[in-house]
Amino acid sequence: MKISNWIWSIIAVLSLNVCNLNASTVQPDKNLGIIPQPTQVTLKNANASMQMLKVYIPAQWYSSYYSTLFAEVNAVQLSTQKEANVVLIEHPNLLPEHYQLDINQDRVIIKASNAKGFQYGLVSLAQMVQYLGFPLPQVSIEDAPKFGYRGMHLDVSRHFFTIDEVKQHLDYLAYYKFNRFHWHLTDDQGWRIEIKKYPKLQEIAAYRDETLIGHYSDQPHQFDGVRYGGYYTQEMIKDIVRYAADRNIEVIPEVDIPGHSQATLSAYPEFGCENKAYKAATLWGVFEDVLCPNEATFKFLEDVMDELMALFPGKYIHIGGDECPKVAWKNSAFCQELIKRENLGNEEGLQSYFIRRVAAYIQSKGREIIGWDEILEGGLAQGAVVMSWRGVDGGLEAAAQNHDVIMTPNSHCYFDYYQSEAPGEPISIGGFIPIEKVYDWDPIPSELAVEKRKYILGGQANLWTEYIKTYSHVQYMSYARGMALSETLWSSDKDYRRFLNKFEQHYNHWKKKGANVAFHIYDLKYHVQTKMGMPVQLYFDAPEQASIYYNLDDQVYNLMDGKDTMTIEKPGKYTFVASKNNQRGRPMTLDFNLHKGTRAQIQLETLPSSRYAGRGPYSLINGLYGPDSKYGGSEWLGFSGDDCIGTIELPELTSLQQVAFRFFKGEGQWIYLPSEVEVLISEDGKNFKSIHKTKDIQTNTKVASLPFSFNGEKAKFIKFVIKNHGIIEAGRQGAGYKAWLFVDEITIE
Ligand code: ACM
Repeated sequence: MKISNWIWSIIAVLSLNVCNLNASTVQPDKNLGIIPQPTQVTLKNANASMQMLKVYIPAQWYSSYYSTLFAEVNAVQLSTQKEANVVLIEHPNLLPEHYQLDINQDRVIIKASNAKGFQYGLVSLAQMVQYLGFPLPQVSIEDAPKFGYRGMHLDVSRHFFTIDEVKQHLDYLAYYKFNRFHWHLTDDQGWRIEIKKYPKLQEIAAYRDETLIGHYSDQPHQFDGVRYGGYYTQEMIKDIVRYAADRNIEVIPEVDIPGHSQATLSAYPEFGCENKAYKAATLWGVFEDVLCPNEATFKFLEDVMDELMALFPGKYIHIGGDECPKVAWKNSAFCQELIKRENLGNEEGLQSYFIRRVAAYIQSKGREIIGWDEILEGGLAQGAVVMSWRGVDGGLEAAAQNHDVIMTPNSHCYFDYYQSEAPGEPISIGGFIPIEKVYDWDPIPSELAVEKRKYILGGQANLWTEYIKTYSHVQYMSYARGMALSETLWSSDKDYRRFLNKFEQHYNHWKKKGANVAFHIYDLKYHVQTKMGMPVQLYFDAPEQASIYYNLDDQVYNLMDGKDTMTIEKPGKYTFVASKNNQRGRPMTLDFNLHKGTRAQIQLETLPSSRYAGRGPYSLINGLYGPDSKYGGSEWLGFSGDDCIGTIELPELTSLQQVAFRFFKGEGQWIYLPSEVEVLISEDGKNFKSIHKTKDIQTNTKVASLPFSFNGEKAKFIKFVIKNHGIIEAGRQGAGYKAWLFVDEITIE
């Protein structure tokens, strides 16, 4: 039977028994359908009598957003003061984003101190009507956000999104009480904002000749041959800023300098360090052509900032600062002279000088700057806000220096990363950040000293669009995880089970509107444990009350009988699916290749990075291969700069035929093959003999296989020393950074 057929036949049987929850049932877990969950919900033991809500919004708190919001909720209408049964009352003592919402027998009262609080109260009310329906419960809600900065970023350089699409995005953000939209307007692949003083930015820098087809790691690179580009006129920008302000969202523009500036240089090569023709990039990655810190460049940037600040009235201007290779500055006599003259020490000092100069200009106009965490290198500009993206270290360091921080670590907040391990996901840059990881995230790192916690303003998801060409794909990558993030950033009262129930309601709402929202909440998560001399054990982290089915050799089993563990005695392709009511997760196939290592135990001297820890060291000998197409997930272990050294202990003295390794290669993501691999064996675990050692590790694809042959040598212990590539050389992707090493699986025959 085809997999899809057997799964649907299971669903058909289950659907007969589905009990439809009455839409008006008040859930005992205070599920009012509101995402993010309000701070405090006090239910009274009665329902309200209204069957229609009529809202009067006085002019000082009114915005055009309400016609959009209520357009989709038939039973909520704007009305005159006289007819209203939803009343807004000013309560000056409440904090700006704080609101109180009381549903009484025949009236709704919302109290707030300003338009923001009223908006959040009205959004909560609209969601209750949408997801609970009438009668509404009588309830008191007291609500205020945990973090003041709740952001979402969108890269419009790699792919361009229309004004209508950006407005859709702002509607989404407002619905989940986000208050910052970080608009990444410039990068190597295109400049997207009209600057009147520099028309070539529009004529030249806004376009690239063509675009990479497929993934960066697919070799050889192929291009589509189609010119691509576009930009927003200043009138369009003003329209967006107004639209966002109507939703109490501040738009933070980013002009990324001094790196990520190839498009700028294509229009104005005089701002580069070399006298040559530059082109907007057609590939993804980090490029060595960066802005030169000469006076002409600073004048250009001041002019750009003048126009930018006139368009964006908010407090913050983002000036990038990330991933700026220093090669061009090293080779430039002018830069070397500048380093000497200004006593900057080295190129890191020069980067700091660059950022400080632009920051000082922006600050002289009464604004504040934000930069990615590289702006810490060489010394932080006064007053700069740090966006911590390479994990949390940059945030910790900035907070220690009493600087404000916005947390956007690529361990939890990169929504361009995969959200499911299932095959068939749209091609993505890599990584793996499932929805529950976003939900579990705490923007305040536990290691941060209590007195420094006030510097963490909040968090933000980043959506880089190298591999995201359409707004539908933006929805797929951001909407589901965005709901989880909204609760992470807003709610003091978090509960993942309750969130999942609400998620289904919200998912259905967006589906009806035609949005492309990812649904992975019933995807199975597994864990495989090997034990000395024992068959492999498979455990599931199954959604509560779900049944798990599997198919092996065309037979369907209700495997678990309510259990969530099984023993794998037989190799082969097992396809599992979880099902609850009439919803099901996506099928997950595990192809077990049982070998001598799957009955062994393993110890690693250095643990993998917490970002890419798979399911621990056992991922290396569990009989499952990390996928050929993507790293991250349960199988691949990633080591940042570190070697992978460990020992496998077999259950008994074993005659060896082969020990094989697999490595992932993705130089665009700074993942390099190891520089050397050595295998040693021992009978007693003390005296090891080196059998194989090689530096010759190559591949034309994303995965390198490295099999070592044995002639029946006997071993109980196998030690492996896999050397990391180390610091990445100049001229290669990620130059100057630590290389990643990805390993899985070590197959022993
Ligand atoms: C970044 O992801 N380069 C900030």
